[in-house]
Amino acid sequence: MSTLVVYFSAESGRTARVAKGLAALKKADLFEIIPVKPYTSADLYYINPLARCNREKVANKDVPVAGKVDNLRQYDTVYIGFPIWYGCAPNVVNTFCKAYDWEGITVHAFATSGGSGIGKTAEKLMPYVKGAASVDAKLVFSAEEI
Ligand SMILES: Cc1cc2nc3c(=O)[nH]c(=O)nc-3n(C[C@H](O)[C@H](O)[C@H](O)COP(=O)(O)O)c2cc1C
Repeated sequence: MSTLVVYFSAESGRTARVAKGLAALKKADLFEIIPVKPYTSADLYYINPLARCNREKVANKDVPVAGKVDNLRQYDTVYIGFPIWYGCAPNVVNTFCKAYDWEGITVHAFATSGGSGIGKTAEKLMPYVKGAASVDAKLVFSAEEI
């Protein structure tokens, strides 16, 4: 069995750097969650109440993902990396997770943030990785800490 690192990174590529480092360390496959409609900087300007990120959050919208992981069930461990948005995983990560059967897979979430702690990120992710053997989450600054 093998390991997959999945990640979403939007602003500065901080999460992407950690995810790529982790995939190299674990000799894991790597999959980037890319929204069908990529985020512009205006979309991420959360100061504006009407920015896309805020509209998606308030309406709890699904955010369609481009591409798919080829046979997720070949992996026994999946690391899922993302920036903390509004205290938890961005909607696009939840939309990604909902599309797969997680039965028996160990899920380790890792996140970067602008200062927030990991909070209830793992608990909030659980409904989207139904059947996972276990789910935990950690705030990280580098791949070596994971
Ligand atoms: C829409 C949005 C919401 C965010 N919400 C939070 C938050 O609740 N807490 C926090 O510490 N940082 C928050 N951030 C900052 C990001 O988590 C942080 O900059 C992250 O490291 C960016 O990673 P990236 O460059 O891989 O996208 C938010 C950023 C955006 C764009």
